[in-house]
Amino acid sequence: MAILGIRRLTYGVDALDQCIQFFSDYGLAKLEADERSALFETRNGAQVELLTLDHPSLPVSALAGIGVHQCTWAVDSDESLERLVKNLKRDHEISDNPSGGVRFVTHFGQSIGLEVFTPRRMSCAPSPFNAPGLINRLNEPRKWIDRPVPKTINHTVWVYPDVNQAFDFYRDRLNFRLTDVQKGFGVYVRADGAYEHHNIFIADGHAIFPQYDGKLRFQHANFGLEDIDEIMVGKNYLERRGYNLEGWGLGRHRISSEAFLYVPCPAGGDAEYGADGDALDDCWRPRIWEAAFGTAIYVHNLPDWLSHQPSWDVGYVTPQTARHFSKSELRDGQPIL
Ligand SMILES: [Fe+2]
Repeated sequence: MAILGIRRLTYGVDALDQCIQFFSDYGLAKLEADERSALFETRNGAQVELLTLDHPSLPVSALAGIGVHQCTWAVDSDESLERLVKNLKRDHEISDNPSGGVRFVTHFGQSIGLEVFTPRRMSCAPSPFNAPGLINRLNEPRKWIDRPVPKTINHTVWVYPDVNQAFDFYRDRLNFRLTDVQKGFGVYVRADGAYEHHNIFIADGHAIFPQYDGKLRFQHANFGLEDIDEIMVGKNYLERRGYNLEGWGLGRHRISSEAFLYVPCPAGGDAEYGADGDALDDCWRPRIWEAAFGTAIYVHNLPDWLSHQPSWDVGYVTPQTARHFSKSELRDGQPIL
């Protein structure tokens, strides 16, 4: 293994003060801030870096406007970093990352950082669940908290011009693992040293969504909480501070099993609260899902396109289905998932 997960998300922002207030309210710890930048961290030391769009440290890439312009990945050792860089520099220009480690821009225009980093040790202790006939908590109330504290940054989602090109790169050059495929929508990939269901969802920029225009776009970042209680405490905390959280509300994905709440973020896209997702290793067998069926087991406010129960449609990825999303040349100009 080499890449352990997300070390730092670098946002380009146009309303720095508003973004600083947002991430403070969201529950991150502020480490530093000045007129053009700010730095926050989660409980395990993963960071959110805010840079104004004219900041000289913001990487030059195909990503325009506000949002996450660079994800820096935590690498487990100097040796692993050296090995990754040796491979990448055959056809990429590697430079120092101003916040630590190195960075480069892929052929599809995405800036990526790599930095040796060991996540800070931390523990969670969610209240056990009781159910009829099952007592895990006897004479003991559930935990009370006032506000959430994000523990980790679990994943990010970008929309790509060519989903196959991006997938090939992350799999072949950074050793990411395929975990699941959502037909017509994109692929889920996990870093080789991570246990999250996915660290990136590679969304197809040609999928039929109004906000997808075939260009590289940031979509959302997911921050890990302890359980659903912490998600809902976070929702109420933000609502009491005036944030509008209309939308799907609390839900649970069928792909990844993760409970979710999407929060509109002034730094771009959504900042998703997540909890209780599947944990995977290399024994996992990737599956291929009908898009709507995989999206959610339930969601508080049903969108129109989920107003009818989707058909149960999921199977394991096979060599026959795998080739349809792993070979760019088979795409032939059409969405092929
Ligand atoms: Fe997500």
